[in-house]
Amino acid sequence: MRNKLIAANWKMYKTPDEARDFFRDFLPLVKDHDRDEIVVCPNYLAIDVAVHAAKGSNVAIGAQNLFWEKEGAYTGEICTSMLVAVGVTHVIIGHSERRQYFGETDDTVNLKLKSALAAGLIPIVCVGEVLEEREAGLTDDVLRRQCLRAFNKVSAKKAASLVVAYEPVWAIGTGKTATPQMAADAHAIIRAEAAESFGQEFADKLRILYGGSVKPENAKSLMSEAEIDGALVGGASLDPKSFAAIVKY
Ligand code: 13P
Repeated sequence: MRNKLIAANWKMYKTPDEARDFFRDFLPLVKDHDRDEIVVCPNYLAIDVAVHAAKGSNVAIGAQNLFWEKEGAYTGEICTSMLVAVGVTHVIIGHSERRQYFGETDDTVNLKLKSALAAGLIPIVCVGEVLEEREAGLTDDVLRRQCLRAFNKVSAKKAASLVVAYEPVWAIGTGKTATPQMAADAHAIIRAEAAESFGQEFADKLRILYGGSVKPENAKSLMSEAEIDGALVGGASLDPKSFAAIVKY
């Protein structure tokens, strides 16, 4: 049995004060929830507030990105030791918005994955096809390539904490959700690729989250699929009631 993980990706929303308000309202709603792991990934500036607000609770805090170098002249970047120092435990890597707007590639995802694992951060590596790729029947190829390159020269032992998020780009922020069956099929491809990279035992334990217009109304049907091990939630995670409803699907 794989324990489910429900993660919030706040993207570029919420000031520190707004983050504080979120946790004030959200934590009481999920305080008795021990079925799934809960992670909230705020922007960098709201992380400190989030870590303090969530201290001692059942909610862990993640970052939305990192840079792989240990330190140096890299204006505007944040490295793993800085994240660990402020109490971050998880990190999203290779989100499609970073690939689309900030030039991230499968190779930079690989560097970021290695850096996160070396620092003891739990990586949530995002993969997913764009609409044209799905319509051209290329979903399998895209997912296999993204996984293969992300996992390049990473050992199963080092990757033990790895989480993958399948986020079909056409479903992000569009209100279009993959059907549970579509998501399950994509997850099976990712799991097969993980088995090739890391072995079957690893793949059987690997948690694969679904992301893309997850809402309180569709969370239960998605989470009921055996292949779906949790959710990465954007828009619907910004409101405490809505995210709590997804957590408690
Ligand atoms: P939405 O839930 O807003 O579609 O965003 C999904 C996502 O990108 C999570 O990382």
